[in-house]
Amino acid sequence: MKKQDYTFNFEVYDTINDLKEEDKWLLNEAREVTHHAYAPYSNFQVGAIARLNNGEIVAGSNQENASFPVGLCAERVLLAAASSLFPKVPIDTLAISYHNEKGDSDHPISPCGICRQSLVEYESRVGHPIRLILGGMEGKVFVIEKAEMLLPLSFTSKDMK
Ligand code: THU
Repeated sequence: MKKQDYTFNFEVYDTINDLKEEDKWLLNEAREVTHHAYAPYSNFQVGAIARLNNGEIVAGSNQENASFPVGLCAERVLLAAASSLFPKVPIDTLAISYHNEKGDSDHPISPCGICRQSLVEYESRVGHPIRLILGGMEGKVFVIEKAEMLLPLSFTSKDMK
């Protein structure tokens, strides 16, 4: 038996103002996109926005449903839109923010487990990492080099070969 390490590094910025201009713009847009969410059940509006490798910008927001499991997270709405509008074009950077009607929005949130799986699939199908910028309406910002880092030992198509 041997122990295997998994090392996970990410950047932590004290505020959005410490980001480079293009990242600051993207996170500000993610904050704006929270207003497009349909979240009457959780009152937790999530906004996601991506810059594609061809320069196009694609947005997504969470879309809930009275039948709760039907609801979709902002990240998967974005991935479906990107793939439909610009098939095969890699996503360079994806920013995620949120507005919490019942509480604060002062720390980054990171994608849920299902969205992590979807992000990893997207990275592998286009052969390009997705850089993530995570931040609330205020407070610290995390930058993660590749979404894959959030899902160690993930199940992928390679496992089915
Ligand atoms: N949600 C997202 O859209 N993305 C996340 O990363 C976490 C959670 C949504 C799902 C649901 O509509 C609401 O936030 C509360 O969980």
